[in-house]
Amino acid sequence: MRWWHIDAVLPLEEDLFVDDRWSARTYWSELAQLETRHYLVAVEGERVRGFAGLCDYPDEAFVQTIAVARDAQGQGLGARLLQALLDEAARRRVRRVALEVRADNDPAIALYERFGFRREGVRRGYYSPSGMDALVMVRP
Ligand SMILES: CC(C)(COP(=O)(O)OP(=O)(O)OC[C@H]1O[C@@H](n2cnc3c(N)ncnc32)[C@H](O)[C@@H]1OP(=O)(O)O)[C@@H](O)C(=O)NCCC(=O)NCCS
Repeated sequence: MRWWHIDAVLPLEEDLFVDDRWSARTYWSELAQLETRHYLVAVEGERVRGFAGLCDYPDEAFVQTIAVARDAQGQGLGARLLQALLDEAARRRVRRVALEVRADNDPAIALYERFGFRREGVRRGYYSPSGMDALVMVRP
């Protein structure tokens, strides 16, 4: 993902994450942190169909976000994006990959479990402004 993808990513953010969506400012900030961030877009022609981002600290990486356009879901794109993030984490030789996911997001939790993530804990009221709990998941 580069800065010129942000305008195409924002409508997907709004549709898929609603109250918890990220702003343009957040994306600009994420993409500016070149050393520690790795953001991908899946494109079909000019259209952005999905995106995903990794944050890498020494030893541990975080899946910052992952999303696929509604009409492209269920075709393996989310799995490809997640695999690409995990490949990057392996290249960076991190010890483990962690993430937070809304506790009511069954499709995403199923995806992460399929890739070997395990439930480690809960952060109460983590999402703002929705107040929804986050499940913390970790993959060694
Ligand atoms: C989560 C998400 C990225 C998955 O993308 P996708 O392209 O539909 O996923 P895939 O087609 O690659 O499916 C991979 C796995 O995800 C899980 N999955 C995907 N959709 C699912 C659904 N509706 N119900 C249950 N499991 C589902 C399954 O484990 C699936 O494996 P399978 O095909 O062997 O059953 C997508 O649903 C999405 O964008 N959701 C909205 C945004 C979001 O919640 N992101 C996660 C934030 S933490």
